[in-house]
Amino acid sequence: MSLASQMGSMRIKDPEEIERLVKENNELKRQIAGGGASSSYQIPYEDLEVQDQIGGGGFSLVYRGFWKGTPVAIKKWFDPNQSEQMVQEFREEVMTLAELRHPNVLQFLGACMRPPHLAMVTEHMPFSLHHVLYGAGVDLDRKKIVGLAQDIARAFVYLHSRRPAVVHRDIKPANFLVDRAWKVKVCDFGLASNSKAQAGAGTPQYMAPELYENKPYNEKVDVYAFGVMLNELVAKEPPFSGLALGAIREAVLEGKRPDVPLSCPKLISDLVKRCWAQAADSRPSFAQILEALKEVAKAV
Ligand SMILES: Nc1ncnc2c1ncn2[C@@H]1O[C@H](COP(=O)(O)OP(=O)(O)OP(=O)(O)O)[C@@H](O)[C@H]1O
Ligand SMILES: [Mg+2]
Repeated sequence: MSLASQMGSMRIKDPEEIERLVKENNELKRQIAGGGASSSYQIPYEDLEVQDQIGGGGFSLVYRGFWKGTPVAIKKWFDPNQSEQMVQEFREEVMTLAELRHPNVLQFLGACMRPPHLAMVTEHMPFSLHHVLYGAGVDLDRKKIVGLAQDIARAFVYLHSRRPAVVHRDIKPANFLVDRAWKVKVCDFGLASNSKAQAGAGTPQYMAPELYENKPYNEKVDVYAFGVMLNELVAKEPPFSGLALGAIREAVLEGKRPDVPLSCPKLISDLVKRCWAQAADSRPSFAQILEALKEVAKAV
């Protein structure tokens, strides 16, 4: 019996059931048309002028470019096979960032969502925090470090207070962008989407013990990574540098952490240690971190 005739022979009398099926059908149509994404921010690929590469790796590359004459950053996804998984990851990152509005979160402008052209368009920022820390030869003094940390904490108060909470899962200097006025913005929400929430991915040096153990985790993994990065900003040295990945895992599970520089002001080192506590529950929230940073700002 053909599907059509099977359907014809089905008798659905319950109006609620009919309404549910119609809704389901419309939802499926919507998903097929746009992958769940809104059409209000679709950008035709012809409107983009892609210029020099400024970052990226894995499945995506980031370019500087123009969107109808406006300078922007263009993150392009590529995969010769256009695997369904890559297209899905692209859509999830776009949908995550498109929802976010905060002065310390990279401003999403739109996306080109028609394969083979998968590209996300955002404001362009002149530096990454990684570049500022290791490449620019600038003097990152304590005042600047505390200012950057306050901006970052504000972004995470916002992200973690969303429902469901946005857990970034990849806090590290390369995923923060800095402008000429030292304002910092979070970028790279590639690991923040829900479908990857179970995977053990992340950057080993910044991964909380519960992630290594594949245990359930929550937004406190971001607090842990923030602690590691705050210490890195003071130390000006990558965490666990020289240690092999396996050794980092072992050290973290034993409760070992990167060295805190002797010169680090006590208020900052106390905060760092609270953030990277072994037990997730004893780590502060970002609202508490922001409060603590207010005190630090008065003292430095
Ligand atoms: N809007 C932007 N303005 C300036 N530089 C950017 C911008 N977005 C990204 N970059 C640069 O490109 C680098 C990589 O970007 P991003 O972190 O988004 O991609 P990725 O790490 O390759 O992503 P994923 O982890 O999802 O594979 C950043 O570290 C930064 O140096
Ligand atoms: Mg990144």
